[in-house]
Amino acid sequence: MQKFTLNKAVFPVAGLGTRFLPATKAQPKEMLPVVDKPLIQYAVEEAYAAGIRHMIFVTGRNKRAIEDHFDTAYELENELEVAQKHALLELVRSVQPDDMNFSYVRQPRSLGLGHAVLCAEHLVGNEAFAVLLADDLMVGPKGGKPVLAQMAEQFAEVQQSILAVQEVPQDQTKRYGIVATDGASTGLMKVKKIVEKPAPEVAPSRMGVAGRYILTPAIFAHIRAQAAGVGGELQLTDGISSLLGKESVYAFQYQGKRYDCGSKEGFLEATVELALEHPEVGVYFRNYLDNLQIGWSGRERRKQA
Ligand code: G1P
Repeated sequence: MQKFTLNKAVFPVAGLGTRFLPATKAQPKEMLPVVDKPLIQYAVEEAYAAGIRHMIFVTGRNKRAIEDHFDTAYELENELEVAQKHALLELVRSVQPDDMNFSYVRQPRSLGLGHAVLCAEHLVGNEAFAVLLADDLMVGPKGGKPVLAQMAEQFAEVQQSILAVQEVPQDQTKRYGIVATDGASTGLMKVKKIVEKPAPEVAPSRMGVAGRYILTPAIFAHIRAQAAGVGGELQLTDGISSLLGKESVYAFQYQGKRYDCGSKEGFLEATVELALEHPEVGVYFRNYLDNLQIGWSGRERRKQA
């Protein structure tokens, strides 16, 4: 059997971001910052921490800012150098380490996540690869490995496709790919079945796929063989369901937390929680929240209870 090393990551970033209009009218949703870093940079850093060095973006119109973000900012760097702002210069340069490579391919129309992955096929070739959905901001456990690094470690062992999963509320199964597994309830589980966005009454479980995948290259042929699925789009989930007939696919319950930054609520949660941990503003922000009227009344209520 071919032994895969994981060196490529695909970032589908062609989506329109309609849930964040008007903020996303003229800028990509992936460039929205959580505290001081754009969503896409969190995902790229996670891939880098998993040992991946080739980042492949599946982009669309209005996404130029993503390419610029991972390119040299010549004028800015020059200004910072002249002004001897060394720390800021380092910060700007650290966005694209020397050993990181980038490729960009366009997805000409919004035909679904499966279609986006197919757009990257010629850049991935016959290799295993990761897919990271930047909307899902994943934070590893304190002092532990980031989520994709945890998955890469499992992949090095099993050499088969792995999907990050988490338990989701029963009434939210319609938002996720939902898997049924072989019964083991922790760590790595064999997927028996996967369905895209089932209604709660027919969902095979409450185990929802989060936006992190490691896939073998066999997935491409299986996606290509699919008809349009949920929403009239070519679904990655349907490709994985077909792949199950040929190869083992694993679901992995990761350590850490997922913020659904595709929704306003998740984006706000991420902003508050990451701000509280931020080395520069964390202490200030904690004090600020403590002194907010809602924080005060919350504490008072707890005291009185
Ligand atoms: C996509 C996938 C879905 C997965 C989800 C994770 O859906 O199609 O299977 O569970 O990402 O965030 P989307 O959120 O793009 O609608």
